[in-house]
Amino acid sequence: MTKSVRALCISASAAALLACGGGTDEPAPLPDPGPVELDGDLPVPLVEGPAPTPPMGWNSWNAYHCDVTEDLVKAAADAMVDSGMAEVGYEYVNIDDCWMQAERDADGQFQADPQFPSGIAALADYVHERGLKLGVYSDRGSETCGHRAGSLGHEVQDAETWASWGVDYLKYDNCLTPEDEAAGEGTDEAREAGYQRMRDALDSVDRPITFSICAWSFFEWGIPMGQLWRTTTDITAAWDTANIDMPNQGSIMTIARSTPALAPYNGPNGWNDPDMLEVGNLFGKFKDTESRAHFSLWAIMSAPLIAGTNLTEMTDLTREVLTNEEAILVNQDALGIQGVPVRDEGDLMVWAKPLNESGARAVVLLNAGTTARSMTAHFTEVGLRRGDATVRDLWKHEDLGSFRDRYTVTVGPHDAVMLKISGSEPNRPHGTVFLGDHPTIYAVNALGPAEPNRSNGGEEPDDGGPITIGGQTFDKGLGIAAPSAHIYRLGPDCTTFRAAIGVDDDQADAGTMVFEVWADNDRLFQSDVKTGADDAEEIEVDVTGRSRIKLRVVNAGDGSARDRGAWADARVECAE
Ligand code: GLA
Repeated sequence: MTKSVRALCISASAAALLACGGGTDEPAPLPDPGPVELDGDLPVPLVEGPAPTPPMGWNSWNAYHCDVTEDLVKAAADAMVDSGMAEVGYEYVNIDDCWMQAERDADGQFQADPQFPSGIAALADYVHERGLKLGVYSDRGSETCGHRAGSLGHEVQDAETWASWGVDYLKYDNCLTPEDEAAGEGTDEAREAGYQRMRDALDSVDRPITFSICAWSFFEWGIPMGQLWRTTTDITAAWDTANIDMPNQGSIMTIARSTPALAPYNGPNGWNDPDMLEVGNLFGKFKDTESRAHFSLWAIMSAPLIAGTNLTEMTDLTREVLTNEEAILVNQDALGIQGVPVRDEGDLMVWAKPLNESGARAVVLLNAGTTARSMTAHFTEVGLRRGDATVRDLWKHEDLGSFRDRYTVTVGPHDAVMLKISGSEPNRPHGTVFLGDHPTIYAVNALGPAEPNRSNGGEEPDDGGPITIGGQTFDKGLGIAAPSAHIYRLGPDCTTFRAAIGVDDDQADAGTMVFEVWADNDRLFQSDVKTGADDAEEIEVDVTGRSRIKLRVVNAGDGSARDRGAWADARVECAE
């Protein structure tokens, strides 16, 4: 089902967590954190699987729509190599809609459009010879959105055909004909079943095919099915809604603002997809600075980086944006954390993403307004300690020096400054530490800020009541609303995480939530579905040798409105 998550509050530090929603210039002061603990956390290795980092490539739709041809796709593959894009990680060459005819042949097989005279298998060879991978497009209905043959009723046959052609990636769309609708294909159940049928079909063939779910909105059922899932309506090359000609299309800013709520779902082998890039698609109104800001946002959001411009006619600036290796390294970071806004003051937003390197954060200072503004990244807000940190500008490719507590810079209109800030992680827990009292290095919560030692309450900070689960009251813990994710630093001498988990009593018997404990990229614990009728469940998780712990809670069924609960008494036990 669709999740509409209201009044999201996101922050990357305990101070900001408390202040979230306040919009003040200075974050709330923190107590003196004591001496810096210099010993670094170990980077985690890349996880195994079909998409350990966000997929990167090119797709024909934003540049050519239904005018795509075999020659244009070949030219895109060549340009991907010649421009240096392949070298920095782009690998998929994806043909979107209209590569096939409306009618299948007598055997029910796809017939390639006459614009693809050599056929798709030959095109796959061409792309593979250049060290790249080929993607195709189809639809769960009987027709695609461009009125070509869709896969309804042909799922296994089509998966076999694509595998035999050497196809590596499938984008699977959501259009239905009136006949499909009349046959009941428009229901939520039919949508899920349609995507599941193609998932099963792909599983039945002897070739790995990356599955890109394009259902125009986030659905929890997509998580076990796809390597990426569209979270939004179609993107268009427009900065904000004021620049949109067509209704129902997404601008850069509307999409950027809607994606953070889904951040708890993002991670290795399963990526939120806020749609393909419009970088370089100026169309007379999308400016160069906007391309750079757009790329900065998609990079820090750990979004798939699927270029959508004519690669053979890129300006130098478009190429520079698409091949910015430092921004791409942020996007492809092995931790796979989706960067989120840690400060949101309307037009001015500070985004942060913890990187797989002790003390390192990617930061985007975004100015969505129309005049240049001074902006500040406070180190505590991006989840670091106060004190000294070095700052590198990832667009200028320049070390800017060492700064104390914060870094301030002027950001132009509709532009972004992208930084890597290397400072010190918050202190590790020593002894037994209640996590409600400990700084987070990353925090996303569906309804206002998570509340230290209180229930989540509503949208405002500090508006929760006592944590009570199944009639039991707890003094300590973290009150949350799902979906939520909170990451804390651990240390090599931490051994055990304990908590009592459950849905808040103030939700009566409602709520359906699943609690998960992750360490780096491993899920160490997953609860049954918890409802308001359940007692608190005491859990104990071995976290020996782990660098970070992530407390994730997801919705499980009846919508997110009543999904408020707590990690009561959440604590880690470490050596003193
Ligand atoms: C839908 C998708 C787009 C594109 C078109 C093709 O609108 O969301 O990304 O694939 O169909 O017709």
